[in-house]
Amino acid sequence: MNKHKISHLAVIAMLAVGVVSCAEKPTEQVIEKPVNTMTLKEAYADKFLIGATLGASMFNTPNHPSLALAKENFSAITLDNDMKWALNNPLPGKYNFEIGDQFAQLGVDENISTVGHVLFWHSQTPDWVFKDDEGNLLTRDALLERMRERAKMFATRYGSRIKIWDVVNEAIEDDGTWRKSLYNQIIGDDFIEQAFIIADQEMPKDATLIYNDYGMDRKGRRDTVITMVNDFVKRGVRIDGIGLQGHWDMDIPTAEKIDETLTAYAATGLRLHITELDVDFLGRDGMTGADVDIQKLIATPENNPYTDGNVPAAAEEKFAVRYTDIFKTFIKHHKSIDRVTFWGVTDGDSWLNGWPVVGRTNFPLLFKRDGSTKKAHDAVIALTQK
Ligand code: GLA
Repeated sequence: MNKHKISHLAVIAMLAVGVVSCAEKPTEQVIEKPVNTMTLKEAYADKFLIGATLGASMFNTPNHPSLALAKENFSAITLDNDMKWALNNPLPGKYNFEIGDQFAQLGVDENISTVGHVLFWHSQTPDWVFKDDEGNLLTRDALLERMRERAKMFATRYGSRIKIWDVVNEAIEDDGTWRKSLYNQIIGDDFIEQAFIIADQEMPKDATLIYNDYGMDRKGRRDTVITMVNDFVKRGVRIDGIGLQGHWDMDIPTAEKIDETLTAYAATGLRLHITELDVDFLGRDGMTGADVDIQKLIATPENNPYTDGNVPAAAEEKFAVRYTDIFKTFIKHHKSIDRVTFWGVTDGDSWLNGWPVVGRTNFPLLFKRDGSTKKAHDAVIALTQK
């Protein structure tokens, strides 16, 4: 699979260095494509989808460079915010489809797999969802009906154009207990199960239905997720995939821990998706997890040292090694993994410029702010050539 027919790009490159004269026609000869001209999606084509999240500004800004990079380098896309309940349906009866529609169409036009993010999450969900016209909390049945309407609305609008759905996000705490969200308080401890029953009934039959969470390596959450999905499978409640967000930092979780975690989830027989990968280059200043609602910290010269955008070579190298270790582990488990999605395209797109420290210049992804590739990018591709 690493052999590629001479591609358009390779021919241009060869012309540029005088390897092929203009008069010559490219032959059908099979060549090894140089690693540095390969894209991530080409390099991983025989292993898993490689994805990135897109944001509204990429659709609203003409010729946004991240959009072009996404088309060229990724085989899956997720919309970062605009399908969340608060943005898509901020008030009863008011819907915003502009960005979602462009996103779904992009997937069709470019033949890129699309991920719907997210049907049911306690965060970025408006209060009205849980209340009746008088402001009283809904009954269990009324909330389940409202959830069903939302699933039906997306299924009707996008059908099979959206192939993968994060059905429930972050409903289990670090210690493995159910998160006491309004969903849980109103519906009860079977909220996740009910959400998957609704998704199974309303979403297209060929959609992949996923439970997604952060800190999936933590024992409490891991044990509960595994027990839950095994129980669902046993009782015929459809769930197709387990989503590990993968908001990691330079040291934690270790590659060994990731390995052990993937082994444990793979044993359920469900497909694994790494849904929101980034490596917090600057560190968390003591924060762990990815709870977007926590109080944010202030940027200082200590926690925000590279404001001019230049990272010392040694730190760039360390970052490449960290990504190499992570992707080696993914490759080891590639038979169980369907997709690895980065949260953002370039460093400039990343939420880690604003969390958990406000206003930092962070460097968590494989593409620099100017769209050029990092050492880590090439290292991740080079792994597939071994
Ligand atoms: C969580 C959510 C995402 C996004 C990221 C960071 O993990 O699942 O939708 O909000 O945090 O931005």
